[in-house]
Amino acid sequence: MKTINQGTIPTMNFSVSVDIKIGAGASKEVGVISKDLGVEKVLCIYDEGIKSAGISNNIVDSLQNEGIKVSTYDKVTPNPPDSIVTNAAEFARKQEIDGIVAIGGGSSIDCAKAVNILLTNPGPIHQYEGKDQVEHEVKPIIAIPTTAGTGSEVTSVTVVTNSEKSRKMIIAGQGCGATTALLDPELTVGLPANVTAGTGMDALTHALEAYISKGASVLTDINALKAIELISKNLYESTVNGTNLQARSNMLIGSLLAGIAFNSAGLGLVHAISHPISSHCGVPHGIANATLLPHVLAFNGEDEKVQDRLRDVASIMGISIVSKGGKETIEHVVEKVSELCEKVNIPRLRDVGVETTEFSQIAADALKEKSMTFTPRKAMKEDIVRILESAY
Ligand SMILES: NC(=O)c1ccc[n+]([C@@H]2O[C@H](COP(=O)([O-])OP(=O)(O)OC[C@H]3O[C@@H](n4cnc5c(N)ncnc54)[C@H](O)[C@@H]3O)[C@@H](O)[C@H]2O)c1
Ligand SMILES: [Zn+2]
Repeated sequence: MKTINQGTIPTMNFSVSVDIKIGAGASKEVGVISKDLGVEKVLCIYDEGIKSAGISNNIVDSLQNEGIKVSTYDKVTPNPPDSIVTNAAEFARKQEIDGIVAIGGGSSIDCAKAVNILLTNPGPIHQYEGKDQVEHEVKPIIAIPTTAGTGSEVTSVTVVTNSEKSRKMIIAGQGCGATTALLDPELTVGLPANVTAGTGMDALTHALEAYISKGASVLTDINALKAIELISKNLYESTVNGTNLQARSNMLIGSLLAGIAFNSAGLGLVHAISHPISSHCGVPHGIANATLLPHVLAFNGEDEKVQDRLRDVASIMGISIVSKGGKETIEHVVEKVSELCEKVNIPRLRDVGVETTEFSQIAADALKEKSMTFTPRKAMKEDIVRILESAY
């Protein structure tokens, strides 16, 4: 027997368990796909914005054209709270459905995933916080994203706000993913500029955090880097020229790839801080991330390993590095990300209702977030307060 050279071969964990279809008009196939999945009675879950944008009508039509019975729940609210999940699940149970279609941004898709858990598992939803806590198999769920941001259509994660504790619960793993994701850029052309900007910065944050995460591997890197390239090249265009279908399509693919990357690599300090900001101050998820991203990158950039990693990011973002790397690379990347934030009008924390008196609580809560375990540079409470001050 040959002697094995005992090197350090890292163990990699990577999973994607969703069928994906991408293309202009892809959402119109929802009826045929549902039928193929054996679904006869479906609940479409979305919010008021999706309804008034006229997006849900065509999807309901496609389902009905295939003879599928449809009921609708349109009361999802941003950063969906547990109460909405409970309410929607009660409604869903009464409808005796055998499948769900989630239409919208991360809030609608996450709410739908949580409702799906409660169709075959007892409530309340809180007991499933953590990883792989869902016991019974869930029903088919088709996710149709209308923002290019969260990547929820491809992740095995649902984020639900615990209203009593003002805290976001991460429910992940088994039973938390969609069966099929339909990515249709035509659905995103009417997305308002400020939402395009915020959700797009969320996707960029996913890719950057996944790339420098302690959980990163070659399998997540390749997805994260392509996501960074697509998002940094198309975010501005899709924000100022929303009807550019190519830019919209590139953003959807970018956010999907970022979702694939962070689903296995984990996130980091930006998300650890943004979650309490959203729960305490009601700031939209993407905007909260965007306000913090350059400042957290600068903080992480003090770490030499991060400096090395960000050299690849710099070149993919079109920064020609003349320096020998190190801290200068970080400065270039931070500058590039800050410029992008400015070009798409990302506000500062002071402009979105966050008060300096809340910094201490936000920092204390951030330290308890799961994302902290993946962050490449350890952060203390005072570091987080300093980051909040610089983003203010
Ligand atoms: N599950 C995951 O993997 C994951 C990852 C990141 C974030 N999240 C969660 O997702 C939520 C945020 O989702 P989001 O940023 O996509 O925002 P969102 O779903 O809250 O939507 C924001 C607003 O945009 C409107 N909108 C969406 N698409 C539209 C369109 N095409 N045209 C017009 N209006 C449209 C909505 O009606 C809503 O008012 C947060 O709760 C966050 O924690 C989940
Ligand atoms: Zn996010």
